[in-house]
Amino acid sequence: MTEESALLRVLRGEALAKPPVWLMRQAGRYLPEYRELRARASSFLDFCYNPQLASEATLQPIRRFGFDAAIVFSDILVVPDALGVRVSFEDGGGPRLEPVDSEVRLRDLRNEIDLSRLSPVFETISIVRRVLPHRIALIGFCGAPWTVASYMAAGRGSPDQMPARLLAYRQPSLFQELIERLIEASITYLSAQLEAGVDAVQIFDTWAGVLAPREFQRWCFEPLRKIISGVRQTWPRAPIIVFCRGAGCQLPELARSSGADAIGLDTTIDPSFAAANVQTLKPVQGNLDPAALVAGGAALASAMENILATLGRGPLIFNLGHGILPETPVAHVEQLIRHLRAS
Ligand code: CP3
Repeated sequence: MTEESALLRVLRGEALAKPPVWLMRQAGRYLPEYRELRARASSFLDFCYNPQLASEATLQPIRRFGFDAAIVFSDILVVPDALGVRVSFEDGGGPRLEPVDSEVRLRDLRNEIDLSRLSPVFETISIVRRVLPHRIALIGFCGAPWTVASYMAAGRGSPDQMPARLLAYRQPSLFQELIERLIEASITYLSAQLEAGVDAVQIFDTWAGVLAPREFQRWCFEPLRKIISGVRQTWPRAPIIVFCRGAGCQLPELARSSGADAIGLDTTIDPSFAAANVQTLKPVQGNLDPAALVAGGAALASAMENILATLGRGPLIFNLGHGILPETPVAHVEQLIRHLRAS
């Protein structure tokens, strides 16, 4: 019999004595072997669309640290790319896209996501799933419509997502249409990742925290709910994690009625709030401060203990409260793993 993955057991609601662990953005620049691999591709998108390089990047953190899950090496912005928007990543400068900020630009989008453009991602998934032991889960992902739309409206990253927030207020029907396209694209893309062999999927809503409550409902909550129910039409048992950063007091509602199997907690969420109001409804994932991992030593140990003491008796997937920072020392990730395995 194959040993079942600890991550999938927690996603089904089990509380494990030692929580499974993976880290958001666990493949990346803090790893010397990643930087070496990255130098072999001319652009970041070429890297994402090269199954040999992308599968290797997916596996690097697993080999080094023995995490309980691997996350497919790709990016949330491959979705606009497959909708016909030109996307590029400047060295150190972040993503650049042709902005979608008018009726004309919206009409230029493909009606449906071009899955053939994303076929290298599905090939990466099948390569990784073949070599990964069954006790290690493979996670697929997409960005949530609001977060992806925030890059599409601005044509780049923005400190406060103002171009998308203004577009949503000024031209709500146009913005709704953009969000609907992204909902459909996300359902198709996540379903295709499940078909290719991922064991679970995570939806990243990195910029949910800037929205006023009614906007949160309309642009984050409703789209997430629709994506989850859409994926479940074809994959009724697919484990789905939602990471809605900055959702704060909306997290219990997300746990109650989005349909997600597990709720990601960002760095700002007090573990005792989550224990009383979220973990009673759904398994939780999180939420070590990425800065505590950079600091290491006693600060890291104490931050980890606070989470384990509060959330460790219920269903918990240990993770960061946001992506790992490039300056994180590898030795501190080793300290984290030692601490968890000994706990
Ligand atoms: O290991 C993993 O987690 C898998 C791969 C992954 C990447 N991006 C690779 C990447 C995942 C899951 C993402 C998600 C992602 N991408 C998000 C949501 C999660 C989050 O961290 O908030 C967002 C908002 C993006 C968009 C994005 N991609 C930006 C803004 C940037 C530039 C800034 C940065 O972090 O460098 C990227 C580039 C990117 N995506 C890199 C990696 C490893 C760095 C590019 C490089 O190596 O040169």
